[in-house]
Amino acid sequence: MRMTAKNLIGTLVIVSLSAVYGIAQDITLPNPQKTGGKPLVDAISQRQTSREFSSGDLDMQTVSDLLWAAYGFNREDRRVIPTALNKQELSVYVFLKSGIYLYDAKDNKLLLKVAGDQRKLAGTQPFVPAAPLSLVYVGDTDKVDSGHSFFSSGCASQNVSLVAASKGLACGVRASIDHDALSKALKLTGKQVILMGQSVGKPK
Ligand SMILES: Cc1cc2nc3c(=O)[nH]c(=O)nc-3n(C[C@H](O)[C@H](O)[C@H](O)COP(=O)(O)O)c2cc1C
Repeated sequence: MRMTAKNLIGTLVIVSLSAVYGIAQDITLPNPQKTGGKPLVDAISQRQTSREFSSGDLDMQTVSDLLWAAYGFNREDRRVIPTALNKQELSVYVFLKSGIYLYDAKDNKLLLKVAGDQRKLAGTQPFVPAAPLSLVYVGDTDKVDSGHSFFSSGCASQNVSLVAASKGLACGVRASIDHDALSKALKLTGKQVILMGQSVGKPK
């Protein structure tokens, strides 16, 4: 769609109102950076679990880069990670201060699911809400069994850990999540299974 002056003003007004009044809505991400970063082996050398984060937020370019590494497309309809039978069964939920979003890799958007700061639902440990970004990987047993989904979430989360290491960010994966509370908040179906959590932020 061509951006006219009228559309642009409309978008700016909505963005400004959202910023001033804290109204959460879908977020269009900047295009992810698909080249560059540290050499892969350097990132592997630096990967480690962090459980401390400074108070600094992550910019949306960084969020976009991390999400693309998790579950973006690197071909027309294929992802950066393998999935059993190419079922692409993962959903990646994104926890920011403004709400919980579902990553839409095709349109490079965050689709608002729950407004407001819900970061404590991303994990039971006290450091989790301090991280500006948490991801929760969810599988779909209508598509593949949960073992295959755990494998997919391992691939996705390791990509994120390596991009985080490449960018000098603090990052860690977690199994400790209150499944009942989070399933309720996300309105998951009985077929959806919570797999892993992951938090990313600036190092302390
Ligand atoms: C399947 C899995 C589950 C994990 N669950 C948690 C967790 O619930 N909380 C946590 O703080 N760390 C968790 N970790 C991180 C490990 O504790 C960490 O990887 C391990 O101590 C080794 O440290 P390193 O990652 O720095 O090498 C988990 C890691 C894996 C692979």
